[in-house]
Amino acid sequence: MTTNTQKPERIKIFDTTLRDGEQSPGAAMTHEEKIEVAELLDEMGVDIIEAGFPISSQGDFDAVNTIAKRTKNAVICGLSRAGLKDIDRAAEALKPAKRFRIHSFISTSPVHMKHKLQMGPNSVIEAIAASVGHARRFTDDVQWSPEDSTRTERDFLCFAVETAIANGATTINIPDTVGYSTPQEFYEMIVDLKNRVPNIDKATIATHCHNDLGLAVANSLAGVLAGARQIECTINGIGERAGNAALEEVVMALKVRGDIMPFTTGINTTLLSRASKMVSNVTGFPVQYNKAIVGKNAFAHESGIHQDGMLKNVETYEIMRPEDVGVHSSSLVLGKLSGRHAFKDKLEALGYELDDQAFQDAFKRFKDLADKKKHVFDEDIVALVDDEVMRGHDKILIRALRVSSGINVAPSAELTLSVDGQDRTAKTTGDGPVDAIFNAIRELYPHEASLQLFEIKGVTEGTDAQAGASVRLEENGRTVTGRAADTDTVLAAANAYVNALNKLLVKREKRAPETLTVAR
Ligand code: KIV
Ligand code: ZN
Repeated sequence: MTTNTQKPERIKIFDTTLRDGEQSPGAAMTHEEKIEVAELLDEMGVDIIEAGFPISSQGDFDAVNTIAKRTKNAVICGLSRAGLKDIDRAAEALKPAKRFRIHSFISTSPVHMKHKLQMGPNSVIEAIAASVGHARRFTDDVQWSPEDSTRTERDFLCFAVETAIANGATTINIPDTVGYSTPQEFYEMIVDLKNRVPNIDKATIATHCHNDLGLAVANSLAGVLAGARQIECTINGIGERAGNAALEEVVMALKVRGDIMPFTTGINTTLLSRASKMVSNVTGFPVQYNKAIVGKNAFAHESGIHQDGMLKNVETYEIMRPEDVGVHSSSLVLGKLSGRHAFKDKLEALGYELDDQAFQDAFKRFKDLADKKKHVFDEDIVALVDDEVMRGHDKILIRALRVSSGINVAPSAELTLSVDGQDRTAKTTGDGPVDAIFNAIRELYPHEASLQLFEIKGVTEGTDAQAGASVRLEENGRTVTGRAADTDTVLAAANAYVNALNKLLVKREKRAPETLTVAR
């Protein structure tokens, strides 16, 4: 192993979970969920939080605005296209922030300019100058991105970047929008920009890599080695299509391999596992078991040879300690005799800071769970608290449920739903108890959304384990995933369906951004 004596340089972490991540099909988050995620990102030490795309919907505007008001440390960023209205709207949403950044973008590749924008190169250059200049009227912190950089002609890319900097851009973000590049190519591209753009030293270069070929993290690190000093990424790598570079992976790669990559970040890595669970819960996107850093198996050793090695010395098979990313070896925690104090300590260790009312609600649910379940594990507590957060502000709630099923019994469900504060009851049958419940929900709250996926998994092991249910619904091209956990499997299923419906209501409020009107 080589030892590098260079003083590590600081890399800024720009998190776009709430913007690019939330853009992925099915990943819609409610307003409250976005605030929760933003608070954790801030606490974790993320430098810049891209909180949304304010002109895209009232929901995005409100989320950016609230996050701007509440965030203590991070710079809050809002996305905008090159139109003046986009930029005005972003600036309005961001205004209450202690520090904010406007991020404007326009496509520069031939295929995007011709087919998407229907603009020639000269008009694109004019739009860059006008949009960046306009954004600078609101803040000194302006980021500009040439969308589809990696398929842009190099001379044009250099000129576009030079124009953006000349008009006041302080960060130049280089997106591999379609996840097409490779580490060598991405490295050379950043080096080329550094060598050929005359005013490049006036801006920070950032990477924004998509994962279509599974190379997003590798490309981001190659960009840093070439001179980029900001990485754009998302928790669990969520994002358009195959997603973005995963925050936890880039951060841990820089930390673990500081010997050959002498860079640091401001991230408190012990919160990574917590952030991964939170984002998975609010989006309903499961984390694959073998996912690097935060997967359930990332620190599990199954084979006898590995276990033997680990018992002799953990360094035989572990390149980082589970505690470094917030995974604690013993997760058996509490039982029904545990009191408020122990529960509070556990919540703090898991990274939760609940206000008094939320704590009392969570404690009550914990006691109910401990009555049904002998051992309450960390995973149970995370599922329980996140479930509470998810359901706290829902318009549709389950008030009562009774199901019957068995041999020679027609499965039926009697369900009472509260919709906008009004209780309604229905009794229905189905192919099974879950089908009967879903039929009752459809009767009480008629909707056109189709069921795309229904899944049940144990949160922990054993027959008394909580069931984690996921339900994916699709309506007019919009997909949402609802989740819930309960020791009662059918109740978990019912709550997951209702959670998906609540998310759909939020998503209905969103409208597609208008077609681009460039700066005039
Ligand atoms: O992938 C992309 O090109 C983007 C831009 C808006 C930066 O997300
Ligand atoms: Zn992107």
